[in-house]
Amino acid sequence: MLDRRTFLHSAAKTTLAMAATRVHPLFAQTPASAPRSPNDMIQLALIGAGWQGQGDTLTALQVPGVKLVAVADCYDGRLAHAKELWGADLFTTRDYREILSRKDVDAVLIATPDHWHKQAAVDSLRAGKDVYLEKPMIHLYSDGPEIIAAVKASDRILQVGSQRVSSIVYAKAKELLASGAIGKLNMVTARWDRNSSIGAWNYSIPLDASTETCDWPRFEGTAPHIPFSAERFFQWRKWNDYGSGVAGDLFVHLFSGTHFITGVHGPTRAMATGGLRFWKDGRNTDDVLLALFDYPEGFNLSLHVNFVDGGQESEGFLFTGSEGLMEIAGNNVTVTRTPLEREPGYTVGTFTNAMQKAYIEQYRKKYPMQHPAGPPPREIETFSAPSGYSDSYDHFHNFFESVRTRKPVVEDATFGFRAAGAALLSNLSVQRDSVVHWNPETMQLT
Ligand SMILES: NC(=O)c1ccc[n+]([C@@H]2O[C@H](COP(=O)([O-])OP(=O)(O)OC[C@H]3O[C@@H](n4cnc5c(N)ncnc54)[C@H](O)[C@@H]3O)[C@@H](O)[C@H]2O)c1
Repeated sequence: MLDRRTFLHSAAKTTLAMAATRVHPLFAQTPASAPRSPNDMIQLALIGAGWQGQGDTLTALQVPGVKLVAVADCYDGRLAHAKELWGADLFTTRDYREILSRKDVDAVLIATPDHWHKQAAVDSLRAGKDVYLEKPMIHLYSDGPEIIAAVKASDRILQVGSQRVSSIVYAKAKELLASGAIGKLNMVTARWDRNSSIGAWNYSIPLDASTETCDWPRFEGTAPHIPFSAERFFQWRKWNDYGSGVAGDLFVHLFSGTHFITGVHGPTRAMATGGLRFWKDGRNTDDVLLALFDYPEGFNLSLHVNFVDGGQESEGFLFTGSEGLMEIAGNNVTVTRTPLEREPGYTVGTFTNAMQKAYIEQYRKKYPMQHPAGPPPREIETFSAPSGYSDSYDHFHNFFESVRTRKPVVEDATFGFRAAGAALLSNLSVQRDSVVHWNPETMQLT
């Protein structure tokens, strides 16, 4: 694992080069794994072998000492591809309970649609498995206490899959903020904008999608029953019965980042607005969402997601403090310091010439000129993670470390509920057309 010292630090006035691009691990170069002890293998099973499940598994298997033994999914084509990727001997099933009853499975990675997260996690914990659960931890508010209780009732580990919590970039931002690099924080703004159809969740539907190849009842689970729909099966994010809107999909990353960096538990008050502006293809989720949150620590958070962005894909944070700004973009953190002016300044241009002259003379006696040659240049410092850095690898490394040592995970169910619970306030605010309130300590709507 890369540690914080591997950061590349470039001093004043550096131009940032790297853009945030997302490369699926299937297409990324896999670094050679270190030798593993065959006696010390963590045996992993995957539940939900779609885009993220397969990508996560490829990353997880780069961590030394981890072996994949089983895969569950509701589409036969993905089970067949799992065997293509990981060998014909791999145990595959449509029913994840068959995985949970296997003694050779130590840990499960759950990457199903959101509406299955709670049940798959609770079933896995009860079956004695350690759990890596993809974000958002919850689909409904009632999921949070159930998952937390199931972890407590077991001696198992559950880590939520917001990989940025293990990122050296975010750790650097946390350290900079705590060191007072930007003074007292008063505002955080963050965004996640997309300008592609795939970005707006129009994922591919395989040519053989049917009730023969897709286990529709198992996919539906507790969602309201309707006849088979290939769109809903493969593009489930577009419907609230299975997904949690852009808030659950993307705001949740911005919350886990904000909460990790600032060390706070969550907002107390939220208001959101948005609409379906462009992707009117039958979905019932918004493609533009803006939301504002009040934090009791004395700052506001402003978030937006825009799937109709005519510019370019962009994701990032701006932390505004009394003495500077801290920006996170891709694998870079940049701090720009411009201390607030201490002298009051003057607005005398509308007075008589004589009054202007007299006023300025008196003013300068009180406030001698600090910088006769003009204001000092802004101080800019950039910290960049090494090229190719993967926070997902670090997040899995941390998870397996906890599985081995039984030490607390970096992102437990309480953290996961606080991030997802805060994100879903946006949906609630839009639904109720009002300001909504949340107690981040007790994790309850108030
Ligand atoms: N951490 C991240 O950056 C990140 C990125 C993408 C997705 N995700 C999360 O991962 C999860 C999966 O997203 P995705 O894009 O891979 O979706 P996907 O549709 O590509 O994959 C989901 C898979 O789950 C399967 N499935 C559905 N119900 C199941 C059940 N009961 N048992 C077993 N398998 C079942 C489906 O057949 C499908 O193959 C989501 O919760 C999403 O929020 C996280």
